Amino acid sequence: EAAIPFRGARQAGVTAPQQPATHLLSFDLPRTSAAADRKVLRGVLAALSGTLATAAADSPSDPRLQGGGTTRLASLVGVGPALAARLDLDVPASLAELPPFPGDRLDPRRSNGDVLVQLSAADRWTLTVVAELVGTAAHTAGAVPRWSQSGFLPHTPPGTTPRNLFGSKDGTANPDHTAAEQWVWGPPGAHGDGTVLVYRRIHMDVEGFAALSEGRRDRVIGRRASDGVALTGTTERDEPDIYAKNPDGSYVIPATAHVRLASPRFDRGARMLRRSYSYDDGPGDRGLLFCAFMRDAAQFVRVQNRLADRDALNPFLQHRASAVAYVLPGAGSAGTLGERLWA
Ligand code: HEM
Repeated sequence: EAAIPFRGARQAGVTAPQQPATHLLSFDLPRTSAAADRKVLRGVLAALSGTLATAAADSPSDPRLQGGGTTRLASLVGVGPALAARLDLDVPASLAELPPFPGDRLDPRRSNGDVLVQLSAADRWTLTVVAELVGTAAHTAGAVPRWSQSGFLPHTPPGTTPRNLFGSKDGTANPDHTAAEQWVWGPPGAHGDGTVLVYRRIHMDVEGFAALSEGRRDRVIGRRASDGVALTGTTERDEPDIYAKNPDGSYVIPATAHVRLASPRFDRGARMLRRSYSYDDGPGDRGLLFCAFMRDAAQFVRVQNRLADRDALNPFLQHRASAVAYVLPGAGSAGTLGERLWA
Protein backbone atom coordinates (compact mmCIF):
# COMPACT_ATOMS: atom_id res chain seq x y z
CA GLU A 1 0.00 0.00 0.00
CA ALA A 2 1.12 3.56 -0.69
CA ALA A 3 2.10 6.05 1.99
CA ILE A 4 -0.63 8.52 3.01
CA PRO A 5 0.59 11.98 1.87
CA PHE A 6 1.17 14.49 4.66
CA ARG A 7 0.67 17.42 2.31
CA GLY A 8 -2.73 18.63 1.15
CA ALA A 9 -5.41 21.26 1.66
CA ARG A 10 -6.71 19.24 4.64
CA GLN A 11 -4.82 17.18 7.21
CA ALA A 12 -4.80 13.47 6.39
CA GLY A 13 -5.59 12.30 9.93
CA VAL A 14 -9.24 13.38 9.66
CA THR A 15 -10.43 11.37 6.67
CA ALA A 16 -7.67 8.91 5.66
CA PRO A 17 -8.95 5.34 6.14
CA GLN A 18 -9.09 4.67 9.87
CA GLN A 19 -5.87 2.87 10.84
CA PRO A 20 -5.64 0.07 13.45
CA ALA A 21 -3.66 2.09 15.97
CA THR A 22 -3.71 5.66 17.28
CA HIS A 23 -1.68 7.79 19.65
CA LEU A 24 -2.68 11.23 20.91
CA LEU A 25 -0.15 13.68 22.35
CA SER A 26 -1.00 16.91 24.10
CA PHE A 27 1.47 19.74 24.78
CA ASP A 28 1.38 23.03 26.65
CA LEU A 29 3.24 26.22 25.81
CA PRO A 30 5.29 27.96 28.52
CA ARG A 31 2.74 30.75 29.27
CA THR A 32 5.18 33.62 29.55
CA SER A 33 3.68 36.40 27.44
CA ALA A 34 1.28 36.17 24.52
CA ALA A 35 3.94 37.59 22.19
CA ALA A 36 6.55 35.06 23.33
CA ASP A 37 4.08 32.18 23.12
CA ARG A 38 3.04 33.17 19.58
CA LYS A 39 6.69 32.78 18.61
CA VAL A 40 6.94 29.44 20.38
CA LEU A 41 3.75 28.22 18.67
CA ARG A 42 5.09 29.19 15.23
CA GLY A 43 8.27 27.24 15.99
CA VAL A 44 6.35 24.22 17.31
CA LEU A 45 4.07 24.09 14.24
CA ALA A 46 7.03 24.43 11.87
CA ALA A 47 8.91 21.66 13.69
CA LEU A 48 5.84 19.38 13.73
CA SER A 49 5.20 20.00 10.02
CA GLY A 50 8.76 18.97 9.15
CA THR A 51 8.76 15.93 11.42
CA LEU A 52 5.36 14.65 10.32
CA ALA A 53 6.07 15.21 6.61
CA THR A 54 9.32 13.25 6.84
CA ALA A 55 7.81 10.46 8.92
CA ALA A 56 4.89 10.01 6.49
CA ALA A 57 7.08 9.98 3.36
CA ASP A 58 7.64 6.78 1.44
CA SER A 59 11.28 6.26 2.41
CA PRO A 60 11.88 8.15 5.63
CA SER A 61 15.48 8.59 6.74
CA ASP A 62 14.87 7.00 10.15
CA PRO A 63 15.83 3.29 9.85
CA ARG A 64 13.03 2.43 12.28
CA LEU A 65 10.44 3.67 9.77
CA GLN A 66 11.64 1.95 6.61
CA GLY A 67 8.49 0.00 5.97
CA GLY A 68 8.30 1.03 2.31
CA GLY A 69 5.02 2.89 2.79
CA THR A 70 3.50 0.15 4.93
CA THR A 71 3.49 2.29 8.08
CA ARG A 72 0.43 4.14 6.70
CA LEU A 73 1.10 7.08 9.02
CA ALA A 74 -1.60 9.75 9.05
CA SER A 75 -1.62 12.67 11.44
CA LEU A 76 -3.42 15.79 12.49
CA VAL A 77 -2.41 18.78 14.58
CA GLY A 78 -4.76 21.13 16.40
CA VAL A 79 -4.75 24.00 18.84
CA GLY A 80 -6.82 24.24 22.03
CA PRO A 81 -9.52 26.88 22.60
CA ALA A 82 -7.76 28.43 25.62
CA LEU A 83 -4.54 28.93 23.68
CA ALA A 84 -6.42 30.34 20.68
CA ALA A 85 -8.14 32.88 22.92
CA ARG A 86 -4.98 33.82 24.82
CA LEU A 87 -2.88 34.30 21.66
CA ASP A 88 -5.76 35.82 19.66
CA LEU A 89 -5.36 33.24 16.90
CA ASP A 90 -7.53 33.32 13.78
CA VAL A 91 -9.75 30.31 14.51
CA PRO A 92 -13.53 29.91 14.04
CA ALA A 93 -15.31 32.29 16.41
CA SER A 94 -17.32 29.43 17.94
CA LEU A 95 -14.22 27.55 19.19
CA ALA A 96 -14.68 27.04 22.95
CA GLU A 97 -14.02 24.58 25.77
CA LEU A 98 -16.84 22.15 26.55
CA PRO A 99 -19.14 22.88 29.49
CA PRO A 100 -19.26 20.33 32.34
CA PHE A 101 -21.79 17.49 31.85
CA PRO A 102 -23.65 15.56 34.56
CA GLY A 103 -21.68 12.42 35.45
CA ASP A 104 -18.29 13.71 34.22
CA ARG A 105 -15.30 12.48 36.23
CA LEU A 106 -12.61 14.28 34.28
CA ASP A 107 -8.94 14.01 35.20
CA PRO A 108 -7.37 17.40 34.36
CA ARG A 109 -3.92 15.78 33.97
CA ARG A 110 -5.28 13.70 31.06
CA SER A 111 -7.39 16.51 29.57
CA ASN A 112 -7.12 19.64 27.41
CA GLY A 113 -3.81 21.21 26.35
CA ASP A 114 -2.52 23.90 24.01
CA VAL A 115 -1.41 21.74 21.04
CA LEU A 116 -2.90 18.35 20.21
CA VAL A 117 -1.36 15.82 17.83
CA GLN A 118 -3.17 12.65 16.75
CA LEU A 119 -1.11 10.00 14.99
CA SER A 120 -2.59 6.90 13.44
CA ALA A 121 -0.81 4.08 11.67
CA ALA A 122 -0.89 0.44 10.68
CA ASP A 123 0.92 -0.63 13.84
CA ARG A 124 1.95 0.36 17.30
CA TRP A 125 5.66 0.33 16.40
CA THR A 126 5.31 3.25 14.00
CA LEU A 127 3.36 5.22 16.58
CA THR A 128 5.98 4.73 19.26
CA VAL A 129 8.77 5.86 16.95
CA VAL A 130 6.87 8.84 15.51
CA ALA A 131 5.57 9.88 18.95
CA GLU A 132 9.18 10.08 20.09
CA LEU A 133 10.14 12.18 17.04
CA VAL A 134 7.13 14.45 17.58
CA GLY A 135 7.91 14.78 21.29
CA THR A 136 11.51 15.76 20.58
CA ALA A 137 10.52 18.26 17.87
CA ALA A 138 7.89 19.88 20.09
CA HIS A 139 10.15 19.97 23.13
CA THR A 140 13.08 21.47 21.20
CA ALA A 141 10.74 24.20 19.95
CA GLY A 142 9.65 25.00 23.52
CA ALA A 143 6.47 22.98 24.16
CA VAL A 144 5.99 20.88 27.30
CA PRO A 145 4.33 17.41 27.19
CA ARG A 146 1.00 17.34 29.01
CA TRP A 147 -0.53 13.89 28.37
CA SER A 148 -0.53 11.11 25.81
CA GLN A 149 -2.92 8.26 25.12
CA SER A 150 -2.82 5.16 22.91
CA GLY A 151 -5.74 3.40 21.34
CA PHE A 152 -6.41 0.53 18.97
CA LEU A 153 -9.02 -1.16 16.79
CA PRO A 154 -9.72 -4.83 16.14
CA HIS A 155 -8.54 -6.21 12.82
CA THR A 156 -11.31 -5.07 10.45
CA PRO A 157 -11.48 -5.76 6.70
CA PRO A 158 -11.44 -2.55 4.59
CA GLY A 159 -14.88 -1.05 4.11
CA THR A 160 -16.36 -2.67 7.23
CA THR A 161 -17.08 -0.98 10.56
CA PRO A 162 -14.75 -1.67 13.52
CA ARG A 163 -16.21 -2.87 16.83
CA ASN A 164 -15.77 -1.34 20.28
CA LEU A 165 -15.23 -3.25 23.57
CA PHE A 166 -19.00 -3.69 24.07
CA GLY A 167 -18.95 -5.64 20.81
CA SER A 168 -20.90 -3.06 18.80
CA LYS A 169 -19.99 -1.84 15.35
CA ASP A 170 -19.04 1.79 16.03
CA GLY A 171 -19.01 4.42 13.28
CA THR A 172 -21.85 3.11 11.09
CA ALA A 173 -23.97 6.26 10.89
CA ASN A 174 -21.20 8.62 9.84
CA PRO A 175 -21.83 11.51 7.42
CA ASP A 176 -21.17 10.94 3.72
CA HIS A 177 -18.96 13.31 1.75
CA THR A 178 -21.73 15.84 1.07
CA ALA A 179 -22.96 15.92 4.66
CA ALA A 180 -19.35 16.25 5.88
CA GLU A 181 -18.89 19.46 3.87
CA GLN A 182 -21.84 20.93 5.74
CA TRP A 183 -21.33 19.53 9.25
CA VAL A 184 -17.67 18.52 9.61
CA TRP A 185 -15.53 20.97 7.64
CA GLY A 186 -15.71 24.70 7.60
CA PRO A 187 -17.33 27.14 7.91
CA PRO A 188 -16.56 27.91 4.24
CA GLY A 189 -13.93 30.59 3.79
CA ALA A 190 -10.75 31.02 5.80
CA HIS A 191 -11.55 28.00 7.99
CA GLY A 192 -13.09 25.78 5.32
CA ASP A 193 -10.29 23.22 5.47
CA GLY A 194 -10.25 23.02 9.27
CA THR A 195 -12.49 21.08 11.64
CA VAL A 196 -12.95 20.65 15.39
CA LEU A 197 -11.95 17.47 17.24
CA VAL A 198 -13.84 16.53 20.38
CA TYR A 199 -11.98 13.87 22.38
CA ARG A 200 -13.47 12.04 25.37
CA ARG A 201 -11.75 9.20 27.23
CA ILE A 202 -14.76 7.14 28.29
CA HIS A 203 -14.38 4.28 30.76
CA MET A 204 -16.61 1.31 29.86
CA ASP A 205 -17.91 -1.32 32.30
CA VAL A 206 -17.33 -4.15 29.85
CA GLU A 207 -18.29 -6.96 32.28
CA GLY A 208 -21.44 -5.15 33.43
CA PHE A 209 -22.66 -4.62 29.87
CA ALA A 210 -21.82 -8.21 28.89
CA ALA A 211 -23.96 -9.45 31.80
CA LEU A 212 -27.12 -8.07 30.11
CA SER A 213 -29.01 -10.41 27.79
CA GLU A 214 -28.32 -9.99 24.08
CA GLY A 215 -31.80 -8.54 23.47
CA ARG A 216 -31.36 -6.03 26.27
CA ARG A 217 -27.93 -4.96 24.97
CA ASP A 218 -29.39 -4.39 21.51
CA ARG A 219 -32.23 -2.28 22.97
CA VAL A 220 -29.74 -0.18 24.99
CA ILE A 221 -27.94 0.71 21.75
CA GLY A 222 -30.90 0.56 19.30
CA ARG A 223 -28.91 -1.65 16.90
CA ARG A 224 -28.10 -5.37 16.87
CA ALA A 225 -24.53 -6.11 18.00
CA SER A 226 -24.39 -9.15 15.70
CA ASP A 227 -24.56 -7.19 12.42
CA GLY A 228 -24.91 -3.52 13.41
CA VAL A 229 -28.39 -3.27 11.87
CA ALA A 230 -30.82 -0.79 13.51
CA LEU A 231 -33.80 -2.42 15.27
CA THR A 232 -35.97 -0.89 12.52
CA GLY A 233 -33.75 -1.83 9.56
CA THR A 234 -32.57 -4.69 7.36
CA THR A 235 -29.03 -3.63 6.39
CA GLU A 236 -26.30 -1.92 8.40
CA ARG A 237 -26.59 1.31 6.38
CA ASP A 238 -30.35 1.68 6.98
CA GLU A 239 -30.86 4.78 9.09
CA PRO A 240 -32.51 4.10 12.47
CA ASP A 241 -36.23 4.97 12.17
CA ILE A 242 -36.78 6.65 15.49
CA TYR A 243 -40.51 7.14 14.81
CA ALA A 244 -41.40 3.46 14.16
CA LYS A 245 -43.74 2.02 16.79
CA ASN A 246 -44.64 -1.45 18.05
CA PRO A 247 -48.35 -2.56 17.95
CA ASP A 248 -48.56 -1.62 21.68
CA GLY A 249 -47.57 2.00 20.91
CA SER A 250 -44.03 1.83 22.31
CA TYR A 251 -41.07 2.82 20.13
CA VAL A 252 -39.20 -0.01 18.32
CA ILE A 253 -35.97 1.85 19.12
CA PRO A 254 -36.60 2.49 22.82
CA ALA A 255 -36.92 6.01 24.22
CA THR A 256 -33.59 5.76 26.04
CA ALA A 257 -31.65 3.89 23.31
CA HIS A 258 -28.28 5.46 22.49
CA VAL A 259 -28.91 5.87 18.75
CA ARG A 260 -32.30 7.52 19.37
CA LEU A 261 -30.89 10.15 21.75
CA ALA A 262 -27.87 10.72 19.46
CA SER A 263 -30.06 10.99 16.35
CA PRO A 264 -29.40 13.95 14.01
CA ARG A 265 -33.21 14.21 13.72
CA PHE A 266 -33.27 15.98 17.10
CA ASP A 267 -30.66 18.38 15.81
CA ARG A 268 -31.83 19.70 12.42
CA GLY A 269 -29.70 17.02 10.74
CA ALA A 270 -26.37 17.95 12.39
CA ARG A 271 -23.81 15.13 12.09
CA MET A 272 -20.36 14.47 13.43
CA LEU A 273 -17.66 12.23 11.99
CA ARG A 274 -16.91 9.63 14.69
CA ARG A 275 -13.55 7.85 14.49
CA SER A 276 -13.21 6.31 17.93
CA TYR A 277 -10.63 3.82 19.19
CA SER A 278 -10.55 1.47 22.18
CA TYR A 279 -8.03 1.78 24.99
CA ASP A 280 -6.69 -0.65 27.58
CA ASP A 281 -4.53 0.93 30.26
CA GLY A 282 -4.45 -1.96 32.72
CA PRO A 283 -6.86 -3.77 35.04
CA GLY A 284 -10.26 -2.09 35.19
CA ASP A 285 -9.16 0.79 32.95
CA ARG A 286 -10.65 0.04 29.54
CA GLY A 287 -12.96 1.94 27.30
CA LEU A 288 -13.39 4.17 24.30
CA LEU A 289 -11.33 7.08 23.02
CA PHE A 290 -14.30 8.89 21.52
CA CYS A 291 -12.90 11.04 18.71
CA ALA A 292 -15.37 13.06 16.68
CA PHE A 293 -14.87 15.79 14.10
CA MET A 294 -17.40 18.56 13.55
CA ARG A 295 -17.67 22.14 12.34
CA ASP A 296 -18.67 23.39 15.77
CA ALA A 297 -18.22 21.71 19.17
CA ALA A 298 -21.74 22.93 20.03
CA GLN A 299 -22.93 19.92 17.98
CA PHE A 300 -21.27 17.62 20.52
CA VAL A 301 -22.64 19.65 23.44
CA ARG A 302 -26.23 19.27 22.24
CA VAL A 303 -25.90 15.49 21.77
CA GLN A 304 -23.99 14.92 25.00
CA ASN A 305 -26.58 16.90 26.97
CA ARG A 306 -29.30 14.57 25.65
CA LEU A 307 -27.15 11.48 26.38
CA ALA A 308 -26.01 12.59 29.86
CA ASP A 309 -29.65 13.05 30.78
CA ARG A 310 -30.99 9.58 30.01
CA ASP A 311 -28.91 7.35 27.72
CA ALA A 312 -29.46 3.69 28.66
CA LEU A 313 -25.68 3.27 28.23
CA ASN A 314 -24.94 5.66 31.11
CA PRO A 315 -24.79 3.03 33.91
CA PHE A 316 -21.90 1.44 31.99
CA LEU A 317 -19.94 4.61 31.09
CA GLN A 318 -17.86 7.25 32.81
CA HIS A 319 -16.22 10.17 30.99
CA ARG A 320 -12.74 10.46 32.49
CA ALA A 321 -10.88 12.89 30.22
CA SER A 322 -11.75 15.49 27.60
CA ALA A 323 -10.18 17.80 25.05
CA VAL A 324 -11.23 20.08 22.21
CA ALA A 325 -8.92 21.20 19.43
CA TYR A 326 -9.26 23.24 16.26
CA VAL A 327 -7.73 20.92 13.65
CA LEU A 328 -5.72 23.22 11.40
CA PRO A 329 -6.10 23.28 7.61
CA GLY A 330 -3.46 21.18 5.84
CA ALA A 331 0.08 22.35 5.11
CA GLY A 332 -0.74 22.74 1.41
CA SER A 333 1.84 21.72 -1.19
CA ALA A 334 4.83 23.55 0.30
CA GLY A 335 3.96 25.39 3.51
CA THR A 336 3.73 24.57 7.20
CA LEU A 337 0.72 23.93 9.42
CA GLY A 338 -0.95 26.94 10.99
CA GLU A 339 0.06 29.60 8.45
CA ARG A 340 -3.39 31.18 8.63
CA LEU A 341 -3.49 31.47 12.43
CA TRP A 342 -1.79 34.85 12.55
CA ALA A 343 -4.16 37.00 10.47
C1 HEM B 1 -23.94 5.86 17.43
C2 HEM B 1 -21.58 3.42 20.87
C3 HEM B 1 -20.48 7.60 23.08
C4 HEM B 1 -22.70 10.02 19.55
C5 HEM B 1 -23.40 4.84 18.17
C6 HEM B 1 -23.53 3.44 17.88
C7 HEM B 1 -22.86 2.76 18.84
C8 HEM B 1 -22.31 3.73 19.75
C9 HEM B 1 -22.71 1.25 18.96
C10 HEM B 1 -24.31 2.83 16.70
C11 HEM B 1 -23.44 2.58 15.51
C12 HEM B 1 -22.97 3.83 14.82
O1 HEM B 1 -23.77 4.53 14.17
O2 HEM B 1 -21.79 4.12 14.94
C13 HEM B 1 -21.08 4.35 21.78
C14 HEM B 1 -20.32 4.02 22.97
C15 HEM B 1 -20.01 5.18 23.58
C16 HEM B 1 -20.58 6.25 22.79
C17 HEM B 1 -19.97 2.60 23.42
C18 HEM B 1 -19.22 5.43 24.84
C19 HEM B 1 -18.24 4.65 25.25
C20 HEM B 1 -21.01 8.61 22.34
C21 HEM B 1 -20.89 10.02 22.64
C22 HEM B 1 -21.51 10.70 21.65
C23 HEM B 1 -22.03 9.71 20.70
C24 HEM B 1 -20.18 10.59 23.86
C25 HEM B 1 -21.69 12.19 21.46
C26 HEM B 1 -21.96 13.00 22.44
C27 HEM B 1 -23.19 9.09 18.66
C28 HEM B 1 -23.85 9.46 17.43
C29 HEM B 1 -24.24 8.26 16.83
C30 HEM B 1 -23.78 7.19 17.69
C31 HEM B 1 -24.08 10.87 16.89
C32 HEM B 1 -24.99 8.11 15.50
C33 HEM B 1 -26.47 8.25 15.68
C34 HEM B 1 -27.18 8.07 14.33
O3 HEM B 1 -26.97 8.90 13.45
O4 HEM B 1 -27.89 7.07 14.19
N1 HEM B 1 -22.66 5.01 19.34
N2 HEM B 1 -21.22 5.70 21.70
N3 HEM B 1 -21.71 8.47 21.17
N4 HEM B 1 -23.17 7.74 18.79
FE1 HEM B 1 -22.24 6.73 20.27
